[in-house]
Amino acid sequence: MLFGATGDLAKRKLLPGLLQLSHTGLLPHYHVVGTSLEELDDEEFRQVARAACDRFARRETFDRQWSHFAERLHYVPQSAGAAGLADKVAHTERLLGGSPQRLHYLSIPPSAANSVVRTLKDANLVDRARIILEKPFGVDLATARHLNATLHDTFTEEQVFRIDHFLGKEAAQNILAFRFANGLFEPIWNRNHIDHIQIDVPEELSVGAREGFYEATGAFRDMVVTHLFQVLAFVAMEPPTALEPSAISEEKNKVFRSLRPIDVTSVVRGQYKGYRDLPGVAPDSQTETFVALRCEIDNWRWAGVPFFLRTGKRMAEGARIISIAFREPPKSMFPAGSGVGAQGPDHLTFDLADASKLSLSFYGKRPGPGMVLDKLSLQFALEETGHELDVLEAYERLKHDAMSGDQTLFTTAEGIERLWEVSSPLLENPPPVELYEPGSWGPESMHDLIAPQQWRLPFERKWRRRPEM
Ligand code: BG6
Repeated sequence: MLFGATGDLAKRKLLPGLLQLSHTGLLPHYHVVGTSLEELDDEEFRQVARAACDRFARRETFDRQWSHFAERLHYVPQSAGAAGLADKVAHTERLLGGSPQRLHYLSIPPSAANSVVRTLKDANLVDRARIILEKPFGVDLATARHLNATLHDTFTEEQVFRIDHFLGKEAAQNILAFRFANGLFEPIWNRNHIDHIQIDVPEELSVGAREGFYEATGAFRDMVVTHLFQVLAFVAMEPPTALEPSAISEEKNKVFRSLRPIDVTSVVRGQYKGYRDLPGVAPDSQTETFVALRCEIDNWRWAGVPFFLRTGKRMAEGARIISIAFREPPKSMFPAGSGVGAQGPDHLTFDLADASKLSLSFYGKRPGPGMVLDKLSLQFALEETGHELDVLEAYERLKHDAMSGDQTLFTTAEGIERLWEVSSPLLENPPPVELYEPGSWGPESMHDLIAPQQWRLPFERKWRRRPEM
């Protein structure tokens, strides 16, 4: 069941992702029932899905593959109510035979989640079911608690999959591999050696056709309380005892428990000029389309190490990086003018793009007389492995995990409630938005927020490109 089946996310990611899973054989026996507010029939829904897949699928859609997929797409408008939904599901289950597993995907705004959960209960679609909920999960602590309570009235926690698609990115999972499959970096992964960490996700995109959703949500709820905090947990957590859901959730939740409540004096909220002219946006809107903040984790590993988070729409470049800045050596034997330290500290940088990259920068000697130092780097790009075509897009990976009942990359009720709790000071007392030029890096005061350090982006040195073979 796909709730919000004609929405932006369904068109961009969910329908093309299902098509891709179907092509690759990862979804052998299935039917999809879409539902939304639009009054469509099966055929009209197939046309919507075809247009979406033509535009957004990662690979070309061949007619034979399309027919196989399209035959399995069905639609029931939300106006049909619980009874109409139940009939449609019963019909598709007969096509599949037996007692198939059900997966309910709620690709809907947080305000609609409670009523859809009640509809599923009324339609008797809770048995044999798992439910995926899109972020943001609630809009603050009270609404998240209420939604968790509604869910737990109907579903067991094992049936609930709170999705955060950043954790489905190959590169995010590679943080776990990098940290815990190697002995090299973990000994220095702490306050003794790390100066600060940046998690920076600027986007060139505007709010697109989602003004209504965005105006009520803003960058903090849309990106920080969800994606950026989840990535922060992967970077900051202690080694889990096993690669399994409860062990990973426990370590992530410990990070969230140690996160200090956000200090509003360490937050910059911005809004791009022109946002208020969009339809559905208030002329005096205080919704932030940019946010930068400093957070701190109060535990033995991280005490005193600032984490700087930044994200925004209509910025100069789109990127998703995690940058770990190492402390500089305590003394330098190199003479003035040698260039040591002149280009910032040594950095380990993760690029969370689908074609992920990793770089470790360090000072090295420039060839020739004397001792002049340059910033050099060791770089790795996924495309060098020859496995880049095996990458599953984040939503494909996570839908597949939910179908297999694997909760490792999903978030728990406790974790989400704690994140809303640390966010409360900001939600209750947000500083006014500062305007910024579209195509810039955000309001000027973001520099004061991070001083004396500097934002890594835009990079001084570009990633190296793989030489043509
Ligand atoms: C979504 C947000 O969750 O993540 C969008 O709602 C944002 O506003 C998107 O653009 C970014 O995800 P990705 O995978 O494209 O970096």
